[in-house]
Amino acid sequence: MKFILLLLSFILSLSQVLSHVATYPSYALWNEKGEAIIGLFNLPTGESKVLYTLSGYQHYNTNQYSTFNSNTNMISFLVYNNSSKMSLYQFDINSLNLVQVPVDFSQTPEVYSIVSSNSTIGDDLLFVVKTSNGNTAIGKLNENTNTIELENNLQGIFCAAAFVGKTNQYYTLSVVNNVNTLNVFSSDGKSKQGTVNLKFPSQNSLNISSYPYDLVYLESYDNFYFSMDVDGTPSIFTLKNSNIIQVILGPQYIFQTTVAYAMVSTNFANPNDQRFFQAVSIVHSNYVGNSLLNVFDSQSKFLYSYPIKVLPVNIWIAN
Ligand SMILES: *[C@@H]1O[C@H](CO)[C@@H](O)[C@H](O)[C@H]1NC(C)=O
Ligand SMILES: *[C@@H]1O[C@H](CO)[C@@H](O)[C@H](O)[C@H]1NC(C)=O
Ligand SMILES: *[C@@H]1O[C@H](CO)[C@@H](O)[C@H](O)[C@H]1NC(C)=O
Ligand SMILES: *[C@@H]1O[C@H](CO)[C@@H](O)[C@H](O)[C@H]1NC(C)=O
Repeated sequence: MKFILLLLSFILSLSQVLSHVATYPSYALWNEKGEAIIGLFNLPTGESKVLYTLSGYQHYNTNQYSTFNSNTNMISFLVYNNSSKMSLYQFDINSLNLVQVPVDFSQTPEVYSIVSSNSTIGDDLLFVVKTSNGNTAIGKLNENTNTIELENNLQGIFCAAAFVGKTNQYYTLSVVNNVNTLNVFSSDGKSKQGTVNLKFPSQNSLNISSYPYDLVYLESYDNFYFSMDVDGTPSIFTLKNSNIIQVILGPQYIFQTTVAYAMVSTNFANPNDQRFFQAVSIVHSNYVGNSLLNVFDSQSKFLYSYPIKVLPVNIWIAN
């Protein structure tokens, strides 16, 4: 590694890491130049294996544009091509079959999120879209008309969404009049079941420079996690009742004596052993393309960090 992780107190060597971690098969999405890839990602080594390549497309660089339904074993994801045209694909991890799902996006020119409700019958995808008259709305794909039917409007600036299987509810996180707001919907997005105004116990002392992003609900922790940039580096936050709690202080990456910015591409947890992962890419004008996986324990303590060859935009670990 050519850079130093400043706030991280110790770094184990890769060989030490390898001897401590079992192999869990995981499916990941990442980009190569001019290609969107679906593949296998070996968590302990960072090695990857391509299963499917979509030439001329790229994945969006956030976990909000892909989702996994563990009932149907289907990964759904949106990609864009060189004319910024969006396409929806579904990849069956059993048959390794990839199909394009036709969607007419003309009435919903922007999509901000797709989340599966984990339903066994088709029609499981919840979208957050910008409508042709500029509203932000929750929508569901109608597979007969190939359009996204609007179910509910969302106020404020939409940040991210997640599905909670335990309660069978769909959550959206928005900033409404400067307040971080969690909205709770039924699993089909049709009925709004609650609104929680989130509080920042220490808001004044934190130098936050982004909206919340990369929200995930991690089953193995029974909690939401999301990122916000604090002092220019991504920190991970969680919720305790209606309080936003900073759990993982963003490490700083120093390269050639200047601070390099790290972009989080996704957060995910291992359902098998309560480890929490943060995939980041280091952004520096002189240092392009280096990615790291930061690993934390269930108390959100930093364990170690290692370089990875591809930067997953999303990842699902089998249990
Ligand atoms: C668009 O084309 C350029 C040049 O061929 C390529 O580098 C780039 O990755 C392409 N973008 C996408 C989204 O495929
Ligand atoms: C992008 O996709 C659209 C819709 O599928 C297609 O019409 C267009 O030709 C594509 N553009 C490029 C550069 O591949
Ligand atoms: C989806 O359903 C499967 C099978 O019932 C279950 O194991 C899994 O926890 C569910 N996932 C989510 C995100 O609800
Ligand atoms: C806030 O963070 C930015 C980096 O995003 C930094 O440049 C600035 O100095 C910080 N401000 C304070 C008051 O620490």
